[in-house]
Amino acid sequence: MSCYKITGGRPLSGSLAVHGAKNSVLPMLAACLLVPGQCVLRNVPDLSDVSATIDILRLLGCRVDREGDAVLVDASVLNRSDVPEHLMREMRSSVIFLGALLARLGVAELSYPGGCELGPRPIDLHLTALRTLGAVILEEQGVLCCQNGGLQGREICLSIPSVGATENAMLAACGCPGLTTIIGAAREPEIGDLQGFLRAMGAQVEGAGTSTVMIRGGVPLHPAEYQVMGDRIAAATYLCGCAAAAGEVELTGVSPNTLSAVLACLEEAGCTLHTWPDRMVLTCTAPLRGISPVRTAPYPGFPTDAQAVLMAALAGGEGATLFVENIFDSRYRHVDELRRMGADVQLAGRAAMVSGVGRLHGAAVRSTDLRGGAALVVAALGAEGTTQVSELRHIKRGYQALDRNLRALGADICETP
Ligand code: UD1
Repeated sequence: MSCYKITGGRPLSGSLAVHGAKNSVLPMLAACLLVPGQCVLRNVPDLSDVSATIDILRLLGCRVDREGDAVLVDASVLNRSDVPEHLMREMRSSVIFLGALLARLGVAELSYPGGCELGPRPIDLHLTALRTLGAVILEEQGVLCCQNGGLQGREICLSIPSVGATENAMLAACGCPGLTTIIGAAREPEIGDLQGFLRAMGAQVEGAGTSTVMIRGGVPLHPAEYQVMGDRIAAATYLCGCAAAAGEVELTGVSPNTLSAVLACLEEAGCTLHTWPDRMVLTCTAPLRGISPVRTAPYPGFPTDAQAVLMAALAGGEGATLFVENIFDSRYRHVDELRRMGADVQLAGRAAMVSGVGRLHGAAVRSTDLRGGAALVVAALGAEGTTQVSELRHIKRGYQALDRNLRALGADICETP
């Protein structure tokens, strides 16, 4: 079983171009289904989640090619509208195909995505949104059969600002004549990025980044080229890695504006930050201090996806920090692994009290999920001795060449077979 072998305590230094955002690319690949013809997405990271999405597109009949960091999707011919269970199980976010297939073909059949390593992840909001637009959805033995029952733009109210439900509704609405208004929409930057791609295709969408997104559907769309935004969560991971190991790192290709909540925490912990519109430099020369409570929240609040990596950095610092996880029920699975490295973390429901121990130590640990796995790498960069992080498949869902990038910044990390 392959693992990362990391010997900690080497300060990081240098510059890194952060890859494109996983959470932008996945809905954009699904959006390519909306038009016959070839769309081109640039700055597409090489991740297993991207490969799994491409597998689904190919199965549906698309021609998909990769040229460097570009992915070309030709959805001229679609020969089926169902996504089989083994591909759905691969990745929960493939539920996004529901909205895209409905808009293009008026029919979609997907197996129910079910729970995942973060605890139960319902899709009720996705289904209610699509039903509001006129989809008829039957759930039979774990299969969702979705048909056009008179698709029409309407008002959708989301009771929680779900990222996936907002995106699914945006894609479906492109195929619904008339005006769709999504009230209570998620405001994550990746939704703005999806809006950018849809607009490049000729769609009439506005409001992304606010809690009201409006789509005038049924207008003719055309193939488009689009540059995917940088991955703010990958950026947060590298910044936390530098904060854990000390040093000075420049990140390019990501807007610091999309990371404000994370940057504020790192500054409070004692790091120095300099920012420009699409790059930032973090310097860390002293042990991290404990900071005010970190409460995960929908954007622009502190991102749940950066909770584990920040916790890993602070666990090897000095002073105490309270974390409160408000988005997912089961997002502290990395804590047991951090404890193997000497971390002092007390859990109570949604709360985790982290008391910095000065320095963690190396251990054999196991990735429990994507961001939890990245957190172990962050912890290892600052730890004394050697850490072996196994179950890399979780990490490779969302990080391209994490080991190579960290090595280029001076870390002692290699992948062993
Ligand atoms: C997306 C991101 C994920 C991130 C999450 C929150 C992608 C591919 N994934 O996931 O990395 O951690 O946003 O920022 O973009 N909920 C319901 N019913 C639903 C849908 C969601 O109750 O139908 C709840 C969820 O259980 C969760 C909350 O809403 O408590 C937010 O989830 P959501 O924003 O939908 O997350 P994802 O889109 O799955």
